[in-house]
Formats: sequence, structure tokens, C-alpha cells
Amino acid sequence: MAERTPIMAGNWKMHRDHLEAIQLVQKLAYHLEEQDYEGQDVVVCPSFVSLRSIQTLIQSDRLPIQLGAQNCHSEDEGAFTGEVSPPMLKRLDVAYVLAGHSELRALLDETDEIVNAKVAAIRRHGMRPILCVGETKEEREAGQALEVVVSQLRGSLAGIEVTDDDAEEVVIAYEPVWAIGTGLTATPEDAQEMCAAVRTELASLYGQAVADLMRVQYGGSVKAGNVRSLMAQPDIDGALVGGASLSSEDFALIVGHRRAS
Ligand code: PGA
Repeated sequence: MAERTPIMAGNWKMHRDHLEAIQLVQKLAYHLEEQDYEGQDVVVCPSFVSLRSIQTLIQSDRLPIQLGAQNCHSEDEGAFTGEVSPPMLKRLDVAYVLAGHSELRALLDETDEIVNAKVAAIRRHGMRPILCVGETKEEREAGQALEVVVSQLRGSLAGIEVTDDDAEEVVIAYEPVWAIGTGLTATPEDAQEMCAAVRTELASLYGQAVADLMRVQYGGSVKAGNVRSLMAQPDIDGALVGGASLSSEDFALIVGHRRAS
């Protein structure tokens, strides 16, 4: 089995202004221990307006926390009022960018084609996409969950090359839509089954060796109480955490799940 570096990421969504964001990261750093950063990527994804403040904080306090953005446009520049481009994010030392979060797919009608262009742009600028995929409650109940996830993967990764050398650079987050912000979590077994299916699809796109190196996160109501059983699954390489990442204590417990309790 290939060694994969787990990635624990907090997605704050449209919460916390830049002053609150600074406080949240300071408190998070206070609660985390050195060992929590070892062999694991710790990422926070604040809103665009907080990125510069958090970048400065990370630099000045030399925090081993990495910066993520929640979205980006696929073009480098242009007449796209209100949008933020990948080069702008790169200049802020953003390492990870979410692409295709279900809230954008649902609320802004983001298609796989749009997500695909964003993934390509993120890669082109040397950042790491976290490509979100996942089925709705209706799709799961209709027995279409796998089909939906596979089709999102194929569409969103079309033409995106991944090799042995950069397999860690492209991250997939399996986030069943019915589990996001609802308090419902996929059982560890169900989450594992889908993350394994994601890896099978990645193997068909990139070959087994590359797929074995790629990281597949689970997201959807991850909490301190369920993170261990999720992380114990062989194909789950991290968590994308929404609500629980807004509390520094709770997110620190999630990131620090490997500590003996
Ligand atoms: P949640 O959100 O942890 O609040 O369910 C996860 C996400 O949307 O990334």
C-alpha cells in the first residue's frame, strides 16, 4: 500500500471576517501540537477577504498551517466582476483551492465543464485542487450514487494529467451532499466504499500506481466524535471539515485525532 499524506482541511465557507479569521487561526495553532503537523497537511480555507491576513499570520508566526481558497475563476484575468483568479491566489501563497464544492454546483449551477476548467487553471498555476464530488440524497436513494460520482470525476478531470511525480497535488474530496451541514455522516463503511470506488476510477484514468498515491478525503459532518473511525478506513486520506472547523477547539481535536485519548 502506498504512503499517502493525510490532509485535514477546514472550509469556513461564508463565516468569519478577517479579524475573526486571524483569531481562529491563532487559537488553532495554540491547540495543535507539533506532532499534529507531522506526516499530515493542515489546511484552512477562509473567505477571500481573509486570505491576505492569514497569509501574513502564517508567515510571521512561522505556522506549519497551509492556506486554501474556497473557489477561483478559471481565467487569469479579464472582465469578470467579483471573481478571483488563480494567479491572485498564488501570490497569496495559497496552496490548495477547492473546486466544484456542492454548494457552488447547486447554487451557482457549476457544471463539470466549469469545474474542469478551474481544476486545470489551479494546476497551471502550481496550486493543488481539492476536487469535490458527491451525490444528493435523491440520487443515493435512487441507487445512482456511484454513477453520479464517477461521472463528476470523469467530467471534472477531463484532460487533467496526473503522474507519479505529482499524484499528491490533485486531491479528491468525496462529500455526499446529504451529509454536508446536516449532522448526518456517511457510515465509515459507506464512506470507505465510495472512496475506494473513487480510487478505482482514478486508476482507470491514471493507472493503479498513480491512483494509489492520490489523496481522497471524506467530507460531510466530520466531527471530533467520528473522525477516528473515518480516518481508520484504508481509502480515506483526510477530512474536509465545514461547521466543526469554525471552532478552534473542535478542529484541533479533528486534526489531532491521532493523539492518544
Ligand atoms: P460540514 O461541511 O462539515 O459542515 O458538513 C463540509 C463541507 O461542506 O466541506
